[in-house]
Amino acid sequence: MINGEIALGQPIPWGLVGGGQSSQIGYIHRSAALRDGSFALVAGAFDIDAERGRQFGQRLGVSAERCHADYRALFEAEARRPDGIRAVSVATPNDTHFEICQAALHAGLHVVCEKPLCFTSAQARELLALSGAKNKIVGVTYGYSGHQLIEQARAMIARGDLGQIRIVQMQFSHGFHSTAVEAANPSTRWRVDPKFAGPSYVLGDIGTHPLYISTLMLPALKIERLLCSRQSFVQSRAPLEDNAFTIMQYAGGAIGYLWSCAVNAGSMHGQQIRVIGANASLQWWDERPNQLRYEIQGQPAQVLERGMDYLHPDALHDDRIGAGHPEGLFEAWSNLYYRFALAMDATDRRDAKALSGIRYPDIHAGLEGVRWVENCVRLRALPSTGPQRKCRSSKS
Ligand SMILES: NC(=O)c1ccc[n+]([C@@H]2O[C@H](COP(=O)([O-])OP(=O)(O)OC[C@H]3O[C@@H](n4cnc5c(N)ncnc54)[C@H](O)[C@@H]3O)[C@@H](O)[C@H]2O)c1
Repeated sequence: MINGEIALGQPIPWGLVGGGQSSQIGYIHRSAALRDGSFALVAGAFDIDAERGRQFGQRLGVSAERCHADYRALFEAEARRPDGIRAVSVATPNDTHFEICQAALHAGLHVVCEKPLCFTSAQARELLALSGAKNKIVGVTYGYSGHQLIEQARAMIARGDLGQIRIVQMQFSHGFHSTAVEAANPSTRWRVDPKFAGPSYVLGDIGTHPLYISTLMLPALKIERLLCSRQSFVQSRAPLEDNAFTIMQYAGGAIGYLWSCAVNAGSMHGQQIRVIGANASLQWWDERPNQLRYEIQGQPAQVLERGMDYLHPDALHDDRIGAGHPEGLFEAWSNLYYRFALAMDATDRRDAKALSGIRYPDIHAGLEGVRWVENCVRLRALPSTGPQRKCRSSKS
C-alpha cells in the first residue's frame, strides 16, 4: 500500500522541461511526481516562451533564478549548484525529446521522458548506450501502465488462467480529432506535422500506450511480423495518419491487432486490451480502470475489482485507498513516478538486484515503442485520391 510515507530519505531535486501553463500534460507530471514526496520541483525551463515560462514557474513555487529560458541554461546552472537537480522530466513536443534527453544524460541527470521517446530507433539506441555509460535511468511516461489491474492481468496470464494465448486485441481509438481541430488548437497542430510529431501521428501518440500494456501483461510475446494500414481521413494531415490498423504475428502462433485512431467519432478514449486464451479472456478498459473483466468459456463473466483481497499481491502493492473508492489516471501516474524514484535511487546505489525488482517503463520500453512505429510506417507513400492509404507487411 502506498500511504504517503517518503520512500527515500530525501526527495530527489527535480526539474521540468516543458509542461508549461497551457500544456496538456504538464500538470499530471507535477502532480504525480510531487504526490508521494519522492521529488521536489526546484527548477525548470517550462515553456518555449521564456518569460511566460519564468512567470509560470514562479507561480508553481520555483524561485525566479531557477526558472530558465531553455534546457541548456537549466542544466548548466543546476550543475553549478551543490543542491542542483538530480532528475529532469521532459514534457515538450516530440521533436525535442532526443536532444533534451541527450543533454540531460550528459549533464548527469536521471530522465523521465514523454512518449514517443524520439523519432528513430537509432536515436533510441544512442540514448540507451548513453544512459548505460552515465549510469542514469530513462523512464518513459506510459502513464496508463500504472493502473493496478494491469498487474493482476499479468499475474493471471502467467499463472495460466487463460490457457494458451491466441489473440491480443488492442485499441486506443478516440474521436476528438474527427475534424481538423488543429486549425484552432496548437496542442493538436504539432501532432499532425511530421517536423514536430515525427514519422507518425496516432501510432506514436496513442497506439504505443496499449502496445506497452500488452508487453506488461504478456512479457513472453515477441512480435515476429507486422502488417500496417494507415489512413489520413482528414486529408490535410497526410502524410501523417489519423487512423491505423496494425496486425502483429507473434512467435509461437498468437496474433495481435491494434487499432490506433483519432477519428472514431463519438468515442471518448476507447483504450482497451482484450487477451484471449484457449480457455478464457481478460479485458481492461482505461475508462473503467478499476475493473478487469474475466470471462471463462461456458461460465458467467466475472468482474474483478481493484483493491480486493482476492487479487494477486502485485495488484495490491500500489493500492492507496482500498476497494470501492475509484482510483484514476492521476494515481496511475503517481505509481509510475514512485517507481521512477525507486529506480533512480537503486541505480545511484548500483543495486542491480533492487533495480531488477522495480517494474517501470524504461528506456527499453521507449526503444520498443519507437521501433514499432518505425516498422509500421516504413513504406513509401502511395498516390492518393481520397483518404491516404498505405499498407505494409514487415519483419519486426
Ligand atoms: N503520456 C501521455 O499520456 C501523454 C499525454 C499527452 C501528451 N503526451 C506527450 O507529452 C508531450 C507534450 O505534449 P502536450 O500535449 O503537453 O503538448 P502541448 O503542446 O500542450 O505543450 C507543450 C509544452 O512544452 C513547451 N515547450 C515546447 N518546446 C519547448 C522547449 N524547447 N523547451 C521548453 N518548453 C517547451 C510549450 O511551451 C508547452 O508548455 C508530447 O511528447 C506528447 O506526446 C503524453
